[in-house]
Amino acid sequence: MIPGIDPDNIVYLNGAYERLGDARISVLDRGFIFGDGIYDVVPCYQGKPFCMEDHLARLMRNLRVIEIETGWEQQDWEQLVLDMLARSGRGSNSIVYIQVTRGPAKRDHAFPAQSEPTIFCMVAPFEPPSQAQRTQGLSVVSIEDKRWLNCHIKSTSLLGNVLARQQAVEAGVDEVVQFRDDYLTEGSSTNIWVVRDGVLLAPPRNHLILEGIRYRLIERLAAQCEIDFESRPITRAEVQQADELMLSSATREILPITLYNAQPVGEGQPGPVFEQLRAAYDQEILNLGAQS
Ligand code: PDD
Repeated sequence: MIPGIDPDNIVYLNGAYERLGDARISVLDRGFIFGDGIYDVVPCYQGKPFCMEDHLARLMRNLRVIEIETGWEQQDWEQLVLDMLARSGRGSNSIVYIQVTRGPAKRDHAFPAQSEPTIFCMVAPFEPPSQAQRTQGLSVVSIEDKRWLNCHIKSTSLLGNVLARQQAVEAGVDEVVQFRDDYLTEGSSTNIWVVRDGVLLAPPRNHLILEGIRYRLIERLAAQCEIDFESRPITRAEVQQADELMLSSATREILPITLYNAQPVGEGQPGPVFEQLRAAYDQEILNLGAQS
């Protein structure tokens, strides 16, 4: 028994739909042995996937980067997401989690000459951010980014992120904000946004951050709201003196950060840029419901 997990949930594993409690992979799977795999998380509202094409395009791009060949095309992944949603019977809010590893092989760091990728998918309930989180905002602490230099790969090797997140838990805050050489990178599992003098800023899309699916979405929403946007290196001092801070991810959507290292951000409450982007994001979710 795994606490909080229903073994009767249906998961997809290597061509079969089966009970989570019955699903098995080899202990020699390279995902287990080396964290040699890629994953993605698609948020779904009332049973409808949000930004699915972008999530699946990123999954395929990442698989290409680490040379895992599945033979699956975009439409195969889409079908998997839709099948899983239909089978899970969840008309409510959920996430679809997809993981692909290089599969089982004799333990050797180098890619095996032959291996069959492991393809796994599950659906889990998802609680969108609460009203309190939206109106009061989140707290964060800053930490050094000690992860590797391939943060653009959405790899299942997440120990650096796990340790970062644990620092947030131990500090009693909602998330960490990481810096590398005094420049902002990202949260443990979120992208970070900074507002200064009415301009929305985010770190460059490079190997030092995971380009969230919300990165381009929020960039587009900012343009729609006529908010100036700049993607550029952001210093620690600029974050400390920000008028507003926000974070984004599939499950946290977009939320304000109102406490930074125990100091209020700006006025200590969600700012006007957040309010506009939040309303635009809510509208995107509503538009999904309007689609047949
Ligand atoms: N995390 N940066 C990191 C390191 C992340 O792990 C995530 C997402 C993001 C935001 O990406 P997106 O907007 O595509 O969710 C940024 C997911 C939700 C997770 O690991 O569960």
